Amino acid sequence: MNPQHRIDVPPCAEAGAPSPITATGRPLKWGVIATGGIASKVTQDIALLEDAVLHAVSSRSADSAAAFADRFGFATSYGNDGGVAGYQRLVDDPEVDVVYITTPHGQHYDVARAALTAGKHVLCEKPFTINAAEAEDLAAIAAERGLFLMEAVWTRFLPSVNRAWEIIHSGELGEIRWVQADLGFTAPEDPASRLWDPAAGGGALLDLTVYPLTWALGSLGFPDSVSAVGTLNSDGVDLQNAVTLGYGNGAYAQLSSSFIASCPGQATVCGSKGWLKTGGGNLHNPQELRIKAGQAEARVETFEQVGGGYTYELREVTRCIQEGLTESPTMPIGDTVRTMRLLDGVRAQIGLRYANDAA
Ligand SMILES: NC(=O)c1ccc[n+]([C@@H]2O[C@H](COP(=O)([O-])OP(=O)(O)OC[C@H]3O[C@@H](n4cnc5c(N)ncnc54)[C@H](OP(=O)(O)O)[C@@H]3O)[C@@H](O)[C@H]2O)c1
Repeated sequence: MNPQHRIDVPPCAEAGAPSPITATGRPLKWGVIATGGIASKVTQDIALLEDAVLHAVSSRSADSAAAFADRFGFATSYGNDGGVAGYQRLVDDPEVDVVYITTPHGQHYDVARAALTAGKHVLCEKPFTINAAEAEDLAAIAAERGLFLMEAVWTRFLPSVNRAWEIIHSGELGEIRWVQADLGFTAPEDPASRLWDPAAGGGALLDLTVYPLTWALGSLGFPDSVSAVGTLNSDGVDLQNAVTLGYGNGAYAQLSSSFIASCPGQATVCGSKGWLKTGGGNLHNPQELRIKAGQAEARVETFEQVGGGYTYELREVTRCIQEGLTESPTMPIGDTVRTMRLLDGVRAQIGLRYANDAA
């Protein structure tokens, strides 16, 4: 594995680190954009941080924003008003330090661009954008303005996952030769759901593959070759896909994601001397690692998490902004751009296109 690909351990996931809710500096005022499923989950974890203030939430609907603000205790809320989008009103609020973007991915680019242009630091849900061109543009704006920008790949910040990297890089498993990782569930086919809506970036590839890919990147780094197959529905979004990554040293990673198959959602990393397998939850948040190395009996290491598990990425975002960093060494924007290029390559192979590609 090329050492330059190694994922940095964030301070919050180091052995003996304080709880991720412990303050690391001045309080930050958060603005949460959109009021759907992940916004609710992550807001509960933002509220746990000692140095986080729930300042504002926005929605397309003023009523939804107000209800969300009441539920979680935000100081203020913004809905669409007089032709101005709720998110635009939120990013124009001078009190907001950092925004967390939770719209469907088809809208990430426009919202993140507005936030950066308004001078806000940004944490944006995965997948970061629809394509690499959008990601490159956002990275350039953030760099030009000296603002923090990160894709919310929370898996990279978990102590369990960083322990897996430690085992993998220690040599205990020998040379890593093969990674297999999957994520999938049967999602009822509903054109109104963002999962199936082409305008929202629907399909299994963009929604799920970032998690199996995290295990390939953490174990083997970015690949030298990519080959893929995928099944598209009549609206042109992928129902499922399989991606094989090839490495110059002969190693492979096989990744699959699906909206039409119920899958174990686990990662297996195999080396010349042993293997590691995730458990105790899906591969995006494993609370168990099973390790078999050499002649020793297999052992199980277990982990506890604080809050819903998002507290670790939130600690890293907070620490980085407090320290004046414009990106997290654990989830640098360059990795996001490379990931979007990799996904662009997969999409070209399976014939998956979105309206954003034409822009
Ligand atoms: N990190 C994780 O664990 C995780 C988990 C799930 C999803 N995600 C990611 O988070 C994002 C949102 O997923 P979700 O499951 O929360 O989706 P969701 O439940 O459908 O919520 C998305 C919200 O975005 C707003 N929205 C919907 N359509 C929109 C449009 N056309 N333009 C602008 N805003 C729109 C709506 O809020 P308003 O009505 O308030 O405007 C909606 O409630 C996706 O990119 C997804 O990949 C991450």
